[in-house]
Amino acid sequence: MKYRTIGTGPYSRRVSVLALGAMLFGSTTDERTAFALLDRYAEAGGNFVDTSDNYAFWTDGGQGGQSEELLGRWRRSRGVGEEMVFATKLGARPLAPGTDYVDNPEGLSAKVIRESAERSRERLGLERLDLLYAHIDDHTVPQRETVEGFAALVAEGTVGLLGVSNQAVWRVERARAIAAAAGLPGYEVLQYQHSYLRPRSDVPERLFPDGSLGHAGAELAGYLRAEPALTLVAYSPLLKGAYTRPERLPHDYDHPGTPARLAALHEVARETGATPNQVTLAWQLGHELPILPLAGVSSLEQLEENLAAVDLELSPQQRARLDAAH
Ligand SMILES: NC(=O)c1ccc[n+]([C@@H]2O[C@H](COP(=O)([O-])OP(=O)(O)OC[C@H]3O[C@@H](n4cnc5c(N)ncnc54)[C@H](OP(=O)(O)O)[C@@H]3O)[C@@H](O)[C@H]2O)c1
Repeated sequence: MKYRTIGTGPYSRRVSVLALGAMLFGSTTDERTAFALLDRYAEAGGNFVDTSDNYAFWTDGGQGGQSEELLGRWRRSRGVGEEMVFATKLGARPLAPGTDYVDNPEGLSAKVIRESAERSRERLGLERLDLLYAHIDDHTVPQRETVEGFAALVAEGTVGLLGVSNQAVWRVERARAIAAAAGLPGYEVLQYQHSYLRPRSDVPERLFPDGSLGHAGAELAGYLRAEPALTLVAYSPLLKGAYTRPERLPHDYDHPGTPARLAALHEVARETGATPNQVTLAWQLGHELPILPLAGVSSLEQLEENLAAVDLELSPQQRARLDAAH
């Protein structure tokens, strides 16, 4: 395994370069399988696990929490300590069963931040959440309130690092500026959808309710270049299995750049003897930007394939060909 530092200051952490997505653990992925996946990931040196207070509400029409609860049981049963870094999120939990984050999200008020973080700590069995993200934006609450709400938890020691997901870049920058001006901790880990294939950005049904796009595009890349202390955690790096099952590719990838990039990906896969999934992960891992892929898995075979990508080195020529295809 290889490692990378996320965050600055006293709560910065060394995390494995491959993060494990626990979104479906405890719901679609049963407990026995999820425990086996977590055991193997930890054995391989993985220490960066991702969840949310709302995972996976859509699987049973509830409000989520199954993933955090499962991780709490795994931690206790294995005696897991501080070596494992758990990231969770709040803000997109539906306020009532049968609703979702589009029409009825908990949002990012100071009260929600305090109470939801407390519930997440209980479910995970943690005194301190290593990394807590704002899952989606909330334009109904003044940003200052959200910034101060998160900072209060860091000051109390119940949260280590702060992160943000799916927000427009200008909103992230504004929140960080408010925090910096007040001498408060701000978002340091940015979680967005990112993979080798790129979506069209003009498909309205892919936008979050506030009109922002969860995808890390050119604007976010420019922001990361300007702010070297930030890390991009890339969610759905394998496009939910679409590299091996093309029928899963969302229709906003239906544009002329996709076949060109797929051809380059398959060519490099053939040359290296690796799979397209592994080339995708290796391309992210060796990127000039600090990208940390966050993949979900439902079997040990998938996990082994993804772990092996950490040791796959692409040559500068292969990387240049992958970058140039569009
Ligand atoms: N911040 C956000 O808004 C947000 C949104 C989505 C996800 N996330 C986070 O990102 C994590 C990963 O995202 P994701 O599950 O949406 O996407 P992903 O990691 O791109 O895809 C995971 C799925 O891809 C398939 N897969 C994984 N490895 C494979 C392999 N080696 N070969 C073939 N298929 C493979 C599996 O599908 P099957 O199980 O069907 O075989 C697996 O469930 C989540 O667990 C969550 O923590 C965050």
